[in-house]
Amino acid sequence: MQRPFPATLLYGGDYNPEQWPTEVWHEDMRLMKLAHVNMVSINIFSWALLEPEPDHYHFEQLDGIMDLLAQNGIMADLATGTASPPTWMSHLYPSLLPVTREGVRMSHGSRQHYCPNSPDYRRKTAALLERLATRYAQHPALKMWHLNNEYGCHTGSCYCENCAQAFRVWLEARYHDLDTLNFAWGTNFWSQRYYAWEDILPPRISPAQNNPGQTLDYWRFMSDSLLACYRVEEDLLRTITPDVPLTTNLMVAFKPVDAFAWASHMDIVSFDMYPPITARPSETAFSHDLMRSIKGGQPHLVMEQSPSQVNWMPQNPHKRPGRMRLHSLQAVAHGADGVLFFQWRQSKAGAEMFHSAVVSHDSSEQTRIFQQAARVGAELRRLAPHVTGSRVQAQVALLMDWQNWWAVEYQPGPSSRLHYWQLLLSYYHALHDLNVAVDIVAPDSDLSGYRLVIAPLLHMLRPGVASNLEQFVARGGSLLTTFFSGIVDQNDHVILGGYPAELRALLGIHVEEFDPWTKEMTNSVQIAEGNMQGTYPATLWGELVHLEGAKALGVFSCDYYANHPALTVNRFGQGKAYYLATQGNDELIAALTNHLCTEAQVAPVLNSPTGVEITKRVHSDGSELYFLLNHTDQPQSVTLPAGCFTALLDDKAIEGQVEIAAVDAVILRKNP
Ligand code: GLA
Ligand code: ZN
Repeated sequence: MQRPFPATLLYGGDYNPEQWPTEVWHEDMRLMKLAHVNMVSINIFSWALLEPEPDHYHFEQLDGIMDLLAQNGIMADLATGTASPPTWMSHLYPSLLPVTREGVRMSHGSRQHYCPNSPDYRRKTAALLERLATRYAQHPALKMWHLNNEYGCHTGSCYCENCAQAFRVWLEARYHDLDTLNFAWGTNFWSQRYYAWEDILPPRISPAQNNPGQTLDYWRFMSDSLLACYRVEEDLLRTITPDVPLTTNLMVAFKPVDAFAWASHMDIVSFDMYPPITARPSETAFSHDLMRSIKGGQPHLVMEQSPSQVNWMPQNPHKRPGRMRLHSLQAVAHGADGVLFFQWRQSKAGAEMFHSAVVSHDSSEQTRIFQQAARVGAELRRLAPHVTGSRVQAQVALLMDWQNWWAVEYQPGPSSRLHYWQLLLSYYHALHDLNVAVDIVAPDSDLSGYRLVIAPLLHMLRPGVASNLEQFVARGGSLLTTFFSGIVDQNDHVILGGYPAELRALLGIHVEEFDPWTKEMTNSVQIAEGNMQGTYPATLWGELVHLEGAKALGVFSCDYYANHPALTVNRFGQGKAYYLATQGNDELIAALTNHLCTEAQVAPVLNSPTGVEITKRVHSDGSELYFLLNHTDQPQSVTLPAGCFTALLDDKAIEGQVEIAAVDAVILRKNP
């Protein structure tokens, strides 16, 4: 059963009152009301206080915090507190500490110093959580569970003996017998054959590159191991507090955790968002679209963003005025139903004392940061009744697959310059510039609701993926995929008989050879006619492509494959399948994306000047909300569709044209 999202826009942050005397807690309550905070995440790093010595639990301080929140009408996103075991635990159970690939056992003294396969860690987390959940099951402040914190952060993989043993169990469940495993890993290569399960190790440091099958399976196994830790907590909580929704804060662009596999175990998807100051608005938009999509479009939550600077980059500039507000409204614009901060009150000591917080070191409500946070809080409160219940609807899907990511970036591969995330972003940027709504979905998901599917670098074809794409195109969809796609199966074995293997008929091409370029090597794509006509620089990769039914729309302009196809299109059933055999520059990707959207009849939400992002959320009764976000430093104007609108942040009636101040947003409700 799905536990519902609290029916409002959530606003607040990580709250660590155990770092402060109780007088400060009362001041916090006063300030939280000023900032319109309605939810805080507590108890994230409190294990050492809850269990100061083995099996002796002290909940009195947490009782006080929970009671105070309830008295002040603030919801608790109560963390299970399992991300940082107490120091005594690593003395008592030394094998609980994680081990690096080089074989170095880590020490405690920071955080997240646990091996996900440590039976001691799992047993102690369950023992703590059983008490915690039982104690607060009926507490009026408890509104959401926050399991652990950023699973895999700092220790996305562990290579210890616990993990080696658990890996063997995981492999036996996957392959059943050693012959099947030996086949899957191709162990006749380099004399790697296994004759006993005990001989199998994690891909620890070794003289040359580790077996690719073993490495890929280790990525899968580690994501599953972290998920297994989550599931220990999930199972307990679903029994003890069946009505309280569960979340954990995922990290974006985080390779170790396959978010698609995790989503079904979360009631609410939440994630932590820390864009560098140089990030384009599309990068944060991409994170939101991914997080919304992994749970089928249900509202997600920004569990952490920084009110201003962070402390962990080489230099940590503060967020310029208005930017945090715009990020917060952008989150809602992309389907989030809440935005929280790390953290509420800036620490006085500890590794994060120079990380910004809503209440800074001068403890005042007069600061720029506090005032801006209070403004955002007031605005979210105002928007909540209009926004909750509405959803983003997309006709374009960008395909994303963690297993593909793990396989394609195996090193040494054909090129160390292949960065899957960046290649996905290069297509997303173009769609974002067009104000087209995008879902980010797995290649084996139901594509029937989309008109256009873009699948950059779909290197690994897991079972069913090729036929899923064929059905999508046959029924009239448009598909674009790119170089180095359709190369391996789920075992990371090359699919023989010519690239791109199972996509060959769909794309109507045969790729004879691929050619990963050095940084100095370039080429270009020449398109002789049509709306994409032009010559576009290309980087990274070239291919020797033969047509097998497809038509060449563009050709390479130089090198020995000059005049050979670079961009192709093939009619397949009712639809069309495109292939780009290189990485085009931004202009080519923009022209291609534009062409594909036009052809697939995918309309932008609205047209806008560069730097103005526009999204739409729609209610089940069809009523519409438009979010217009001006990311530029100049005022901008946008032409609205026919009809009367109400600007929800200031209640003004608007028709025809709307002005948006620099670094500002306008949110419009279309009047019936
Ligand atoms: C992560 C963690 C927080 C804090 C912030 C700092 O997201 O979850 O505990 O360390 O980073 O940016
Ligand atoms: Zn381990």
